[in-house]
Amino acid sequence: MDLLNNRSIISEFILLGLSSSQEIQVFFFAIFFLVYIGIVVGNLLIVISVIFDRNLHSPMYFFLANLSFFDLCLSSVATPKVISDFLKKHKTISVWGCMLQMFFMHFFGGGEMSLLIGMAIDRYIAICKPLHYKTIMSRRVLIVLLLLSWTVGFTHTTSQMIFTVGLPFCGPNVVDSIFCDLPLVIKLACTDTYNLELLVIANSGLLSLICFLLLLMSYIVMLVTIFKHSSSASSKAVSTLSAHITVVTLFFGPATFIYAFPFNSYSVNKFLSVFYSIITPFLNPIIYTLRNKEMKAAIKRLCNQRIGY
Ligand SMILES: *[C@@H]1O[C@H](CO)[C@@H](O)[C@H](O)[C@H]1NC(C)=O
Repeated sequence: MDLLNNRSIISEFILLGLSSSQEIQVFFFAIFFLVYIGIVVGNLLIVISVIFDRNLHSPMYFFLANLSFFDLCLSSVATPKVISDFLKKHKTISVWGCMLQMFFMHFFGGGEMSLLIGMAIDRYIAICKPLHYKTIMSRRVLIVLLLLSWTVGFTHTTSQMIFTVGLPFCGPNVVDSIFCDLPLVIKLACTDTYNLELLVIANSGLLSLICFLLLLMSYIVMLVTIFKHSSSASSKAVSTLSAHITVVTLFFGPATFIYAFPFNSYSVNKFLSVFYSIITPFLNPIIYTLRNKEMKAAIKRLCNQRIGY
């Protein structure tokens, strides 16, 4: 009878969170709450400035605004629940809630990855083919690249989730993380998931590893090009590029580590997943705005306008 009960289908997972200590959880609650407010305000400011400021109507800023939008979506999939969970003793999530979380995490995550590649292409053309930049990066090309990143995100998440939603869960239901992380949840299924694990490593891990290496290489090519033809505009280009490289490393580094080597060290993964779901969306606006005079000026104009009313 016991055996039968153990094998019954479960309807919710238990999330362990970051710590079991009450005081530390209150501390995390405060930190995550403030960081999330920072994410929302920072990224919304970028989106609004780019949409309303005519000086920022260029492909680079459109990409930036779309990146901020992705960041906003990506961090909103799990963070609000994570924050309220810090105050709960028993953190649970329904199996369906868990599936939705994983679907949208990989949807926006995959989309953001391809968007970062689009941004690299944009910078590459601007730096290595400056005379043809206006003709190559037309509005049409821009829209195609944006649509492509949504498509890649959707294809990426769907190709993993169609095999995950049907998994039977009947045994242990403890997820040692703050939200449902695909490799951890797959491990809990009471069936052989070896092939699915390989698919996830190939789909999420290899994809992010390859994209990461391609991006780093293309940025190195751009930096070399700039140093070869050093001109008056080069210091601005170098600062833009270093901002891009920082963001790419912050986003891909942890994601690659989790998904390319997913089934070994869980405690490290738990903190890495905090990184790409919360820290990167928080840092992106800071990195891009603090290092960018035009962006800062646009936000200042935006604020003055509002105060002026
Ligand atoms: C994304 O980029 C397009 C430019 O093609 C722009 O029209 C749109 O407003 C941007 N989206 C956001 C959320 O900023």
